[in-house]
Amino acid sequence: MFVELAEKARIALCDKYSLTELTVEWRRPQDKSHGDAATAIALQLAKNLKKKPQEVAQVLCDVLKQCATVEKAEVAGAGYVNVWLTPEALIAELRNTEAACVARPQKNGPVIIDYSQPNIAKPLGVHHILSTVIGQCLCNIHRHLGYSVVGWNYIGDWGTQFGKLAVAWKKWSKGKPVQEHSLDELLELYVRFHAEAEKTASLEDEARAAFLKLEQGDKELRSFWEGVVRVTKSSLASIYERLHVRFDTDIGESFYEDKMQPILEEGRKKKVFVPGKEGSLIVEFNEAQKLPPFLVQKGDSASLYATRDLAQIRYRIDTYHPQAILYVVDVAQQLYFQQLFKTVERLQWKLPLLEHVVFGRMRFADQSMSTRKGTVLKLEHVLDEAVARAAEVIAEHRDSIQTDDEKALAEMMGTGALVYGILSQNRRMDLVFDWKKVLALEGNSAPYLQYTHARAHSVLRKAGVTDPAAPEKVPALTVHERSLVGTLLRFAEVLEDARAQRMPHTLANYLCELCQEFNSFYNTEPILKAEGATKALRLSLTALSVRVLKTGAELLTLRVPERM
Ligand code: ARG
Repeated sequence: MFVELAEKARIALCDKYSLTELTVEWRRPQDKSHGDAATAIALQLAKNLKKKPQEVAQVLCDVLKQCATVEKAEVAGAGYVNVWLTPEALIAELRNTEAACVARPQKNGPVIIDYSQPNIAKPLGVHHILSTVIGQCLCNIHRHLGYSVVGWNYIGDWGTQFGKLAVAWKKWSKGKPVQEHSLDELLELYVRFHAEAEKTASLEDEARAAFLKLEQGDKELRSFWEGVVRVTKSSLASIYERLHVRFDTDIGESFYEDKMQPILEEGRKKKVFVPGKEGSLIVEFNEAQKLPPFLVQKGDSASLYATRDLAQIRYRIDTYHPQAILYVVDVAQQLYFQQLFKTVERLQWKLPLLEHVVFGRMRFADQSMSTRKGTVLKLEHVLDEAVARAAEVIAEHRDSIQTDDEKALAEMMGTGALVYGILSQNRRMDLVFDWKKVLALEGNSAPYLQYTHARAHSVLRKAGVTDPAAPEKVPALTVHERSLVGTLLRFAEVLEDARAQRMPHTLANYLCELCQEFNSFYNTEPILKAEGATKALRLSLTALSVRVLKTGAELLTLRVPERM
């Protein structure tokens, strides 16, 4: 932000204090009474220069006052410099915000983002939405900012549960082909297996034997397994589509079955994997690392989740040469990922950045939504409930909400409310999900964002313009205009912060703030009834607000209506 200003300040300070290298960072002050831009450079320099910060700040201030783009500059607090720009300069800066609404060409990366990761043969539970939407949002933001991304749904399509399912299917499906089962029926078979295994212990042995046969490539079991994977994937597809979630690959755990042996050998040779109890292989960490031993092979030689992840890192490096791999997985696996990352360091692989993008647990404020005894709450049901509740909100506000397609709006609002309710909270904390809050037309919610977008859009529609330009001669700015401009100017910075910290809520909260700024502008300044340059300016600010809201919302996987 404020490139020209930064350059002027740099030259001035370098001249005055004979410096050769300097970067002057300007930020938008939180407090609006501190101007349009502020820098702490004087505070940073003063110590080395053996000067008082205020003195250095004053030097900078005096130079800036001479600039044509600066309306006012002052020293504040311990040595900050606050600057007010001329209206022309501020409006010209909005170019950067326009540019930030366009996806950049993909020159960085690739970044692999591992997210959603459901287990096959089970419907998505409500908790799956966290990884799914946080991961998709991070994919979207990275792509938008010029990274090539491999969005990876690492499905849990391997493990002893397939042995159980195969036994249950054989015994109780009366010859019905596996492909003709619904996901719920597969789940029922699985549940029944556990119930019956309590009475008949030998079932567990049968299941183990079936899985072993599957691992050895038994034709019939293999085609059963493929059927189960197909049924699950096609049932997931419709939910992913409703959520605007799209993956580049869904290579799952089964893929690594034949890729683990070389790694186990490598680890043994490098003495990173050492014998543990009963013929197992483990990794031991030193005192300082404070990690418990990591099991990479069980005593019965069966492979593990961990071993598959090791093979997967190797495969991802060799196939994609990624710059980073982000694992969007809940806090329960924190220790696991620490052990996994330390293990690959010990193997001395040349590694990309490996990062566990952790998130907390989700809890419903409404008790009736908490998990019903023993069964998981299905994501599809929660989505349907969100849409039904959104339809109620629309019905209650028939006089103020306008739409030609109530059903489509309810879907957009309901799914949006659910997703935004998650993405607007700091992912590191446990999440409290409150239907009332997420569906409110006012406040930090998807409906508020959607409503504001529609409202701004309708101004443009009534004015009969789509892409109005700012006037050549910019009039003096009112308080609300200045404040809206200031918020619009932060967009690029917010996107980069959200990406660098992998924090979708930074973007969500910014969009909410922009809505508030737009609404106070809209409520105080006449737009359609204004004239000349003032009208042109207000229309251009409205159009840019529309663009930023739409761009930002879509990065969060939301959709916004043109009418509402
Ligand atoms: N499917 C796994 C689970 O439910 C999560 C997978 C996370 N990704 C990974 N590469 N380990 O626990």
